[in-house]
Amino acid sequence: MRRPVIAGNWKMFKTVAQAEALAEAVCQGASGDVDVVMAPPFTALSAVAQVLKGSRVGLAGQNMHHETEGAFTGEVSPAMLKDVGCSHVILGHSERRQLFGETDEGVARKTGAALAHGLTPIVCVGETLAEREGARTMEVVERQVERALRGLSADQVAALLVAYEPVWAIGTGRTATPDQAQEVHAFIRKHVSGSHGAPAAAALRILYGGSVKPDNIGALMAQADLDGALVGGASLEAFSFLKIVHYPPDVR
Ligand code: 13P
Repeated sequence: MRRPVIAGNWKMFKTVAQAEALAEAVCQGASGDVDVVMAPPFTALSAVAQVLKGSRVGLAGQNMHHETEGAFTGEVSPAMLKDVGCSHVILGHSERRQLFGETDEGVARKTGAALAHGLTPIVCVGETLAEREGARTMEVVERQVERALRGLSADQVAALLVAYEPVWAIGTGRTATPDQAQEVHAFIRKHVSGSHGAPAAAALRILYGGSVKPDNIGALMAQADLDGALVGGASLEAFSFLKIVHYPPDVR
């Protein structure tokens, strides 16, 4: 049985005070049978870590550099995320790939570095609208998954999280249908079974991201290969995020 994960990616939103208030509300409402993770901006990590102390709610960075330290102006290292109290880190988000030149090789280096520092990577993959319309979804997702996980052991793959986020579904209100999401999730699991073995593939948790809302989470989570969600916009309010965390128990 794979334990469900609901993660909130706050992107470039929230002051420190706003982040503390949101973290406190989520922390109070989070339930025990789902892993809950929050990814505030770097500036609020320390404050949110204090709020989450003693709770089971995980804390994630939204990106990091692969080196431990060095002359890399503007970057944050895995050791720094660990030091501030992070348990997870989002890597290869499509906004980083599209707007900040993140490459498959960069994501692979960061994934290895995160694992080496005891952080759980949330490795994001997903096709653009043009790629989907050009029937290239599987090819693109397979390349992204293959490059990110290449060189990792089966145990490392079993312990990380992959987030399938079709770019056309992010922030658009246009969610992938449960069938569309399931098709890609099953494809990713099959690929990982081939690359890292059936036990790693069976343990790997694959999250869906892209316009996840309280009213569509139930149908998504009812799919066999969906193990959770990476939520953007709806994670910025405790009310909507907690509704997603408490998705209908009959699909669990
Ligand atoms: P939205 O939920 O706002 O579509 O964002 C999804 C996302 O990018 C999460 O990482």
